[in-house]
Amino acid sequence: MATLPIFPTPVAEDLRALPEYLPARMVNEFSYCPRLFFYEWVEGVFQESADTVEGAAQHRRVDEKPTALPRPSPSQGGTPGEPAAVIHARSVTLSSERLRAIAKMDLVEAEGDRATPVDYKHGSPREGPDGLELWPSDKAQLAVQGMVLRDNGYQCDEGIVYYRKTGQRVRVALDVALVAETEALIAQAWEVAEHGEIPPPLVDSPRARRLGAHWEFVKEQLHHHHRIEDESFWPLVRPKLVGQEDELAVLDEMEAQHLTLEPKCQAVDEGFTSFSKQPGDLVGVELSSHLDALRTLLEVHLDDEESRCFPMVDEVLSVEEFESFGKATAKSIGIRGSARFFPWIFEGADPVERKAVLSMPPPPVRILCQHVWEPRYERQVATLWAE
Ligand SMILES: [Fe+2]
Repeated sequence: MATLPIFPTPVAEDLRALPEYLPARMVNEFSYCPRLFFYEWVEGVFQESADTVEGAAQHRRVDEKPTALPRPSPSQGGTPGEPAAVIHARSVTLSSERLRAIAKMDLVEAEGDRATPVDYKHGSPREGPDGLELWPSDKAQLAVQGMVLRDNGYQCDEGIVYYRKTGQRVRVALDVALVAETEALIAQAWEVAEHGEIPPPLVDSPRARRLGAHWEFVKEQLHHHHRIEDESFWPLVRPKLVGQEDELAVLDEMEAQHLTLEPKCQAVDEGFTSFSKQPGDLVGVELSSHLDALRTLLEVHLDDEESRCFPMVDEVLSVEEFESFGKATAKSIGIRGSARFFPWIFEGADPVERKAVLSMPPPPVRILCQHVWEPRYERQVATLWAE
């Protein structure tokens, strides 16, 4: 067995000297994933994704025209009976000795001694039970900005995140609970950074759960394929091959290959169970090696069926026999099974082959497949790898 790569645990002497202040952006990172925070801020490793590159570009645009934030003053800009002028200060950086935190704010809307931070984000907000809400990590970052403003003498009651992708502004109140939560987060981040030991991977990973659920679906399709062949197809073909030892040996081989796939599926099953419990590097590498082993065996099996088995089947089964087998199989799958089966086999399929397969079922199935099942399946698959 190949040696599994082991990801080294960083030791304290490899770490760079920590900056004096913890940036609000890193509180966001810590809230999202303490392990990622450690890689980025403590180890100084920054992996740019498309989102961060685009986000950085937007920040550069915001940063282009920095403007000064006036000192907090209850009377500033206003006359008795009239509201103070609203000032929009861009790219404002303030720090707090008390929190050992620093916040670079895209925009601060100030009116007298009242200030509201506005943070620009690339993504989109999430749907909560009471409407749009901030992602917890965005909320933490915004809270740090508000708290730093307060420590600099401003009155800050709320913050706003502007999601550029959807053009939505989402407000969040800087209440006692959010302040306490964020102060605890800042303290934890400092503790992790100064302790110098990388945090374990997140145990509750939505992505691991989604991938595990998709594997259950793929496994169901594989079992179905084997069951149909073992219970219905080979018994239909075998009597036609009486006395043809070489051909019968090919069928025996196909059935034997089905049996060898079982333990591979079992290993992947166990791998997904472990990965769902602890989606770490090592468990992930083990799982991917089980998936590779299954794929290799499955590809050999499917190639064998295509090249050695089906030409033989074509010779001994009449078109009518093959069609009646197809109808019996479709009946056993049912409409619910078809809704899952067709989009799955069409994923990555050659358009000509897809069209040929879609010409077999009755028109309602074709219409449902094109307009309902495939779009739904594509949406599901598109979210599989999302965080
Ligand atoms: Fe098979």
